[in-house]
Amino acid sequence: FADAPPTVIAAAGLPTLRHEAASCRRCPLWQPATQTVFGAGPADATLMLVGEQPGDQEDLAGRPFVGPAGQVLDEALAAAGIDRQAVYLTNAVKHFKFAPRGKRRIHQRPDAGEVMACRWWLAHELAAVRPRLVVALGATAIHALLGRALPIGRHRGQVLAAADGTRVLVTAHPSYTLRIPEPEGQARERALLAADLKTAMRELT
Ligand code: URA
Repeated sequence: FADAPPTVIAAAGLPTLRHEAASCRRCPLWQPATQTVFGAGPADATLMLVGEQPGDQEDLAGRPFVGPAGQVLDEALAAAGIDRQAVYLTNAVKHFKFAPRGKRRIHQRPDAGEVMACRWWLAHELAAVRPRLVVALGATAIHALLGRALPIGRHRGQVLAAADGTRVLVTAHPSYTLRIPEPEGQARERALLAADLKTAMRELT
């Protein structure tokens, strides 16, 4: 299984991939995490959204984007007229990386090695779903999908081609909105995210 090309493995289907990913040991992040948070959504979705990694709530629930960043994303999807149920939602890294601080678990950014290790699963999700467009939510997803870092401010809203031809629309991560202290700045960022998702919709029609 591990050495077969993505198209061969992807033919096994998403339920098999999810099952295999549950016992993934490709990097050490599985150990402190509760569980693998695999992607969710229809196998025939035309739109795929890729985030960074599960957060605290996703780690406990086993599903992507169910916490605060998921709420921001849900609002932006609704504003763009996109049905969340029709979208395949996943993350560049499938385990929650955190540092314990008292009773809290503080999010830590996955490093390049972890992103590359987990790229294996993302490649198989791409091969299984074959979306017409992928939205990269933030720097980690951009790195995983395009293989390089990009200044988001300069490229957001643009559709770029990955080495394998996958079309990738660049935008910021929804949790960026939550880190902006002023309400006006937050509102502006929410609107920008919704506008980028509207662009994604237009690309699909
Ligand atoms: N942030 C992400 O990138 N993904 C999630 O699933 C939740 C928060």
